[in-house]
Amino acid sequence: MPSIPELIQLLPKAELHVHLEGTLEPELLFELARRNGVSLSFDSVEALRNAYVFDNLQEFLDIYYVGMEVLQTENDYYELGMAYFHRAARDNVRHVEAFFDPQAHTERGVAMDAVISGFSAAATEAQGLGVSVYLIACILRHLPASDAMRTFDALLPHIDRIHGIGLDSSELNHPPRQFTDVYRRARSHGLKCVAHAGEEGPPDYVWQALDELRVDRIDHGNRAMEDERLIRRLAQEGIPLTVCPLSNLKLGVVSTLEEHPLKEMLEKGLVATVNSDDPAYFGGYVNDNYRRIAQAVHLSPGDISLLARNSFQASFLSDETKARWINEIDKIDANISNWSHSD
Ligand code: HPA
Ligand code: ZN
Repeated sequence: MPSIPELIQLLPKAELHVHLEGTLEPELLFELARRNGVSLSFDSVEALRNAYVFDNLQEFLDIYYVGMEVLQTENDYYELGMAYFHRAARDNVRHVEAFFDPQAHTERGVAMDAVISGFSAAATEAQGLGVSVYLIACILRHLPASDAMRTFDALLPHIDRIHGIGLDSSELNHPPRQFTDVYRRARSHGLKCVAHAGEEGPPDYVWQALDELRVDRIDHGNRAMEDERLIRRLAQEGIPLTVCPLSNLKLGVVSTLEEHPLKEMLEKGLVATVNSDDPAYFGGYVNDNYRRIAQAVHLSPGDISLLARNSFQASFLSDETKARWINEIDKIDANISNWSHSD
């Protein structure tokens, strides 16, 4: 019988909620700053890492947007992507649906083509590591809807290299419905739709994401647990939640991991998944998230394999590819049952 950490490592997994800019480790950040002549207000990698203490989402975002200013050339985006895909492969992540924030780069004068070409070159190369990658362009919700529309126009020439559209950044006071028109356009171009909702914002923002943005998936969704009718809707329609335990802990969405709602989400029939969000800032990649939450809320081996199965079920892979990965997980599951019967 493998231990829980061994099982987590053994299972193939999909990561569906990771911001590529949030995978920028301090070491690479310093290297890019040196290369691009950007001056930093921290003297060392350690000093920077020590500054990663946040009380809420905004405190994190303030440091996250400054950190990504070191990203300037197409090759910078390629290197960032490759560093993360190598790290994900080590965790036996076999499929990634990765966010990036176009506006955070274009508003500094970086060309959209440099961002997308760098990330998509890395995405293509990741196949050689056994990792398939879909890119999801996120709209920054603290900027006006008109800015989101202009950004969508700038994305159009590159639309064949992106799979979906998302919504992130400061949630409070930035309701999803402001972006209904952009989502309608995105859908008409065949993009999948996701949105961060219910991380700090109220259950109503999750309703808006479902009814007005018509999303295929909710990112975070913790506060949906405050609304029984919403829980039933998510469960009945099988709308997945991309949950990020260590992010929730580091941003004060939960005060301890022990009180995290993940287990309750599974018990209520929600298609919950485990993800890393911004691993360079929150202290853990996917397997770290699985291990820490498993220990904190006492997940069983069956819960762990359900989470891995959910990660593929909730992905935008074809039904055939999903079935192939889920079958792999079922085989591992069956072996585990055999091991425990022979004990
Ligand atoms: N929430 C909102 N915006 C973000 C996040 C997040 O967790 N990470 C990066 N941008
Ligand atoms: Zn996120």
